[in-house]
Amino acid sequence: MTILDPSTRSTAQQIREALATLRAADLPTHGGRTLSYVYDSGIAEADAIGREAVAAFGATNGLDPTAFPSLTAMETDLVGIARELLHGPEASVGVATSGGTESLILAVLAARESRPDVEAPRLVAPSTVHAAIHKAGHLLGVALDLVPVVPGSYRADPAAMASAITDDTVLVVASAPSYAHGVVDPVEPVAAAAAQRGVRCHVDACIGGWVLPFLDGVSPWDFAVPGVTSVSVDLHKYAYAPKGVSLLLHRDPDLRRGHFFAAADWPGYTVLNTTLQSTKSGGPLAAAWAVVHAIGLDRYAELAVVARAATQEVADAVAAIDGLEVVVPPDSTLLALRTDGSCDVFTIADEMKDRGWLVQPQMGFAGEAATLHLSLCAATAPGVPDLVADLAAATGQARGRGPVQVDPQLAAAAGQIDPSGLDDATLDGLLAIAGLGGEGGAVTLPDRMAEVNALLDAAPPRLREALLTAVLDRLTR
Ligand SMILES: Cc1ncc(COP(=O)(O)O)c(C=O)c1O
Repeated sequence: MTILDPSTRSTAQQIREALATLRAADLPTHGGRTLSYVYDSGIAEADAIGREAVAAFGATNGLDPTAFPSLTAMETDLVGIARELLHGPEASVGVATSGGTESLILAVLAARESRPDVEAPRLVAPSTVHAAIHKAGHLLGVALDLVPVVPGSYRADPAAMASAITDDTVLVVASAPSYAHGVVDPVEPVAAAAAQRGVRCHVDACIGGWVLPFLDGVSPWDFAVPGVTSVSVDLHKYAYAPKGVSLLLHRDPDLRRGHFFAAADWPGYTVLNTTLQSTKSGGPLAAAWAVVHAIGLDRYAELAVVARAATQEVADAVAAIDGLEVVVPPDSTLLALRTDGSCDVFTIADEMKDRGWLVQPQMGFAGEAATLHLSLCAATAPGVPDLVADLAAATGQARGRGPVQVDPQLAAAAGQIDPSGLDDATLDGLLAIAGLGGEGGAVTLPDRMAEVNALLDAAPPRLREALLTAVLDRLTR
């Protein structure tokens, strides 16, 4: 869609209007009703100074720290703050990355590079580990040994993880907390098992690392735990910074070296990178630095407690909603909800959307039914009574409709399809069957997604990946 003519200049006013039109189709980033993707502190001054910093540093380039020392100064300051929060020892070091996925890729890269003796490197992680670890393994040629979590607790099984470690294991991963269920893995025994085999242990605290340090009663999960070699924490999540910044901390500089990159053997400047990006805008880093100082650790502590209390309040209230339940008591500010089978989560998600909330459907996994994901932030807290009332009403509506029925023949057929190498025409046909087909191979996303989601849920994960990749492909043609 082109809404401005690129052959001639547009006025600032036209551009503002076009941007406003584009944004109007998006989910709200503020107000606390979008319960995934975005995080709102509710502190307008912090947002304002973050925007100012993005604007002021957007054109700076983190490619060369000697040209833009401001960026190194801010990065080092943020790493120092995180080190205090995460009980990092004096020797610990870190980098700022573009997000959680990049932090995890770098943790896997550094681990792989530290073991040139291993020909076919592998990593051990609980089955609930974030998919970004799958991506890291895929990109870096590190095979994943995913170990089922303990049934009912949804936390890593340390003994099973210990048994999964082999001579080829270069990294063990745990989550604090996991995205899908919001529970903290037992990091102590997992890290001990890794250390015993001389293997690194990364804690993915991308979503919890700026919340858990302020909560009581959380089992140890950071550098205070012996054997934890690196921790990732995203500033663009619960540090409430604009998008584009995560931190990856290592217990000592040696552990970090493997993700540094240098290339002098070409005719241009010597490329020296600490992260995946080479040229990188200083905007997100400066914004994160500004927001972290605008909020301050004392207020982060308050925000974390507020978001945690809101999460608990929702969890308690869900217990009184017929047909809906919490999958596992949460350790942090994330909730997974499921139904008792009298309705399905996909209809509830649609009903919530009609009421102005985004709750994120999570497909069934390992024999467990689909769930709804809610990440609660500080700005959601004042709206908890409305959230609970709307969840009750949405579940009531969904129960009235009953579970979405997927044609059993269609579900059986989906199980037979080999998702590898499906051509475009077949994918178009499958998307049409799934209710996503549009004119001339385009994609239309229906307003109500329950039927589509139920069908996707019935499809094996590999087919779901192929179909949704086809959707993405068609949306971006
Ligand atoms: C635990 C965890 N790890 C990694 C990620 C990936 O982070 P990003 O989306 O910033 O790449 C997320 C995102 O939600 C997460 O929750």
